[in-house]
Amino acid sequence: MKILSTVEAFRAWRGGAAGPLGFVPTMGALHAGHRSLMERARAECAATVASVFVNPTQFNDPEDCRSYPKTWETDLAMAREAGMDAVFAPTFEALYPDGYRYRVTENGHSLTLEGAHRPGHFDGVLTVVLKLFQIVVPGRAYFGEKDWQQLELVRGMAAAFFMPIEVVACPTVREADGLAMSSRNRRLSPAARSRAPEFHRALVESPTAAAARERLTEAGFSVQYVEDAGSRRLAAVELEGVRLIDNIPLAATPAPGADATPILTGSAS
Ligand code: PAF
Repeated sequence: MKILSTVEAFRAWRGGAAGPLGFVPTMGALHAGHRSLMERARAECAATVASVFVNPTQFNDPEDCRSYPKTWETDLAMAREAGMDAVFAPTFEALYPDGYRYRVTENGHSLTLEGAHRPGHFDGVLTVVLKLFQIVVPGRAYFGEKDWQQLELVRGMAAAFFMPIEVVACPTVREADGLAMSSRNRRLSPAARSRAPEFHRALVESPTAAAARERLTEAGFSVQYVEDAGSRRLAAVELEGVRLIDNIPLAATPAPGADATPILTGSAS
């Protein structure tokens, strides 16, 4: 597995890579959710690349960026085990020669939900994904459904700019108790970790978004939003200062007035 940190080195390697390329962009702190993206890319593409770059422009809180978990050695081991041919891990200077003077802005959905609570977040996400797409030139790019809004916005950007890239949606991978896998879960104290599965349970078992909000608030979560939008129920909460997001298909929620049947899947939503 090649480890490349400059655009020039990556492009030199890219020139020799055979067949359509599968790309898994990440910010490191890899977990089983990332592993599932990499394994799917491996199964579907002739050559595969994961990127590891903690992108400062998508953090509205600089402290959140500074304290984002960094697990470089275990990330490399996981990428290697998952069969990646290369890991692209650029510096900020390599990826932002313009110092972020140029950026991608979406003026609709990116301002709602996550975007409303994290101003500028999706400008940073879309900008770095565009940069990575330009360097990696993938045929397919793999994104987790846990970041549903991100997935939809990346898809929209690829379509808006006629990018010949298939954006592949991969199911959320969950702990056995239903908690969606996330790099931020590492920040949960043991006490918060034991309370965290109530987040997914409340989304699944509540007949309405308002009922889920109420249930989570009563359970001690600081609720940023729970909203039913299109085919999904999307939510963000804070638990002891750790921000968690999740979403589920609305078909998984009980009809208003129906008995709430707990759905606790072991794997994906
Ligand atoms: O989902 C993530 O890890 C990040 O938002 C991404 C897509 C790698 C861009 O920094």
